[in-house]
Amino acid sequence: MIISLLLIAAAYLLGSVSSAIIVCRLMGLPDPRTQGSNNPGATNVLRIGGKKPAAITLLGDSLKGLIPMLVGHAVGVGPAVLAGIGLAAFIGHLYPVFFGFRGGKGVATALGVQFGLYWPIGLCVAAIWLFVAKVLKISSLSGLISMALAPAIVWAFWPERVLIGMQLIITGLLIWRHRSNIRNLLTGKEERLVSKPE
Ligand code: G3P
Repeated sequence: MIISLLLIAAAYLLGSVSSAIIVCRLMGLPDPRTQGSNNPGATNVLRIGGKKPAAITLLGDSLKGLIPMLVGHAVGVGPAVLAGIGLAAFIGHLYPVFFGFRGGKGVATALGVQFGLYWPIGLCVAAIWLFVAKVLKISSLSGLISMALAPAIVWAFWPERVLIGMQLIITGLLIWRHRSNIRNLLTGKEERLVSKPE
């Protein structure tokens, strides 16, 4: 019980470390919370700083979801604790204690959680993200579509109620955090994936 609570608390704290803000600070780029979409996430870092800082941000935010889940597997916790760990890491990214509870939108961290839960789940969600991004070239729409399908993918690979519940909460929060993107999509104002010229 104590170990489980510690793992969940550690996952929240790790999730609270904003890769976008740290990468931008270290690479001398503007604060992603004050530029572009004002979102501390890989897509906005791509706009502000180009491919390299965006790739590092994407990796960092994914690892925040992946590592706690792998630790959970390694110590042999059950699905309920895995769900708690995944949710905690994701919520840490959205509401980070280290950055005034103003975090990102959660796509990369959710992907890390899904890969850590069971890698084929992460692979399916990532493949859908990549396919939609390639065809439509809109990051938010790729995230929304892939995460909307994620509960069904979790159900297909690991039909455990608590895990499907975890994914439903993650998907719900992620949609909520994308409400400005959804408004822009509906009015045709959403920006396409663009990288700052190298
Ligand atoms: O992962 C975030 C992405 O879905 C949207 O980011 O900066 O276009 O609002 P942004």
